[in-house]
Amino acid sequence: MADHVRITKSDGILQLVLDRADKKNALTDAMYGALADAFAAAESDREVRVILIAGEGDMYTAGNDVSDFASAGASDAPRNVDRFLRAIAGCSLPLVAAVQGRAVGVGTTMLLHCDYVLLAEGTILTTPFVNLALVPEAASSLLLPLRIGHARAFAAFALGEPIAAADAHAWGIANRVVEPAALRPAALEVASRLARQPRASVTATKALMKRTLAVVDQMDCEGREFAARLASPEAKEAFAAFAERRAPDFSKFD
Ligand code: COA
Repeated sequence: MADHVRITKSDGILQLVLDRADKKNALTDAMYGALADAFAAAESDREVRVILIAGEGDMYTAGNDVSDFASAGASDAPRNVDRFLRAIAGCSLPLVAAVQGRAVGVGTTMLLHCDYVLLAEGTILTTPFVNLALVPEAASSLLLPLRIGHARAFAAFALGEPIAAADAHAWGIANRVVEPAALRPAALEVASRLARQPRASVTATKALMKRTLAVVDQMDCEGREFAARLASPEAKEAFAAFAERRAPDFSKFD
């Protein structure tokens, strides 16, 4: 295990398992770094034909570690999250995601870059960026409205309205909803089928499907706005409120 990400490889499948269940798999800078490195290595590893992302415990991921957000706002240091987002957006290999419990923030937006998403029954997706006085990332401000329509995406972003598994399936975010116990086996079965397909055709098909989207450009725009919001007094209030387990009060800011 490296940095709370368990990485295994067999039968053409690279499994990346978030393994920080005591913190609901909240993603730290080190975890993003481990994921980005694994994506980069997979691109030149002929033994890897498909990547499967999953999370240990009762929750896929609670999103970015909020205390990392708080310290990132005070620093200009490069963040591994940017490397991770570019890696997942540019990944040439098919990506399968197995998601249970909750997928918060980047936990949901990363699914927009995956090619086959399985949800366990009862899973809830949320993108509460504005609740934290931030803005959406991972090109989700482009991809989520394209996928589910502006009205639903706006409610999810601006109000943090949850998306239930059945809606995520009906709206085209997920391929299937399965019983929780069947999640990992079903994801492995799909990954294994993909691994047996002709590699060049799979990667060329994925590339053809993605070439019209101005994803990196959108990420750059989002990144500039995100960095400004991260350093804002409203965001500091939101992070402090999370640490103190209270509701944030944005009324004192204009
Ligand atoms: N960053 C850092 N720590 C987090 C976290 C996050 N995003 N999400 C959960 N944790 C930690 C909690 O602080 C808690 O730590 P502790 O046991 O040391 O007190 C532990 O994980 C368990 O979380 P808890 O809140 O008790 O679990 P829950 O099941 O009641 O609620 C969530 C789960 C995901 C609903 C809730 O933790 C939450 O809202 N987290 C923040 C999500 C978020 O805003 N992410 C950023 C999105 S942009």
